[in-house]
Amino acid sequence: MAQSLESIPNNVDLSSDRRLQRALEQWQPNFLQWWKEVGPDGFQGHQVYLRTAISVEANGWAHFNFVRMPEYRWGIFLEPKSERKIGFGDLMGEPVWDEVPGEHRNALRRIIVTQADTEPASVEQQRQLGKTCPSMYDLRNLFQVNVEEGRHLWAMVYLLHRFFGRDGREEADELLQRRSGSHDKPRILNAFNEPIDDWLSFFMFTMFTDRDGKYQLAALAQSGFDPLARTTRFMLTEEAHHLFVGETGVDRIVQRCGELAAAGKDARKEGAVPFELIQKYINLWFSLSLDLFGGEVSSNAADFFAAGLKGRFREDTLGEHKAMGQIYRMEVPEGGELVEQEVPLRNAMNEVLRDEYVKDCQRALDRWNKTLASAGATGMRLRLPHRRFHRGVGPCAGLYFDPEGRFIPEQEWKAREGEWLPTAEDRAFVKSLMHPVIERGKMASWIAPPPKGINGMPIDFEYVKPPEA
Ligand SMILES: [Fe+2]
Ligand SMILES: [Fe+2]
Repeated sequence: MAQSLESIPNNVDLSSDRRLQRALEQWQPNFLQWWKEVGPDGFQGHQVYLRTAISVEANGWAHFNFVRMPEYRWGIFLEPKSERKIGFGDLMGEPVWDEVPGEHRNALRRIIVTQADTEPASVEQQRQLGKTCPSMYDLRNLFQVNVEEGRHLWAMVYLLHRFFGRDGREEADELLQRRSGSHDKPRILNAFNEPIDDWLSFFMFTMFTDRDGKYQLAALAQSGFDPLARTTRFMLTEEAHHLFVGETGVDRIVQRCGELAAAGKDARKEGAVPFELIQKYINLWFSLSLDLFGGEVSSNAADFFAAGLKGRFREDTLGEHKAMGQIYRMEVPEGGELVEQEVPLRNAMNEVLRDEYVKDCQRALDRWNKTLASAGATGMRLRLPHRRFHRGVGPCAGLYFDPEGRFIPEQEWKAREGEWLPTAEDRAFVKSLMHPVIERGKMASWIAPPPKGINGMPIDFEYVKPPEA
């Protein structure tokens, strides 16, 4: 079943670099072993209608055909090289680097490993979901996300092997050794150790947590380390589909909920997700994902920006690229109250990126609220909680805020937490809805059908075929 290295689609001239080839040849069987052990449980022999990137050109990056997942062609692609200059920070205007500058080696390795770790982690988190898919269309989308996260791991491992020598090889091995949720060797970031064992969580994850990934990748797409910038630019094209899966998945759950409410029916009795549960899951996944941006005030973020390692979202469209002598105002908790603090802009880069993310999430919320309105569910409105709510990172961690961002005493939090975040009962109810629906074109009772199929195919297309007997 294992593929030869020559079959790996790439535009990094893999065949001419013997040292790199040897490193990847050693890593590849371990990757496949990892995929078998903790990748999608079941379905490994099924034929899945998947998109495979076979080149970076418009006609090559979205090639559709039926493949068995272990035979997916995980490729290595960088966006074609262009005459880029460093676009921000202290080295603004200097040529970008094709190799890793010695003084930034540790920082870049850490940035790459942290990003890379999220890719296999999410595959592990989602491995049981196939068994309870709400439709064949959704099953195919799950597997598309899974194989592409696998490819993103390849993309990052290529950078580690190609540019970081022995350390890079060791890091690449460890990426296959950590496990989501493991006690001894957990994944690096917290949200990637949360189990995702129901589809409401899956859609929330691809909506909110993958969206953090989009903003991190977009910031790295500006990097002065050109291979990293070019890799992440290509990853972003695939990531867009994951965000689509999440945003439209939640939208279809919202639609079903709204239609039942408009008809005066009880969502629970109809086997759908009640409105307040959708809100609680939004509160949970939005707050967990906000933490992924890091602390509000960060000297690391300032250093990365100054050195040209990590820029802002769409840095190239901003008017000013040095971010020197400017301040960012934020409200921070101090001695039991909120005070306004002035922070040098460079130290607020995490918060600047988080601002863009919050705007994007609000746009999706507005869309879901439109769906509720057009379903006739008057009076139902979903809201994003305040960014101080339920934080585990930054100055609000360990303090208590309600979804409006107001300080509350610990006792009140304990009494009301269950109004705002999913309780054990809520989770059990959501789980009780999860029964597999795999007949072509059918949908589970808790989700509306999508408006259209994948790649121009009908909604009732046979996206996943059982192994041939
Ligand atoms: Fe990814
Ligand atoms: Fe993703």
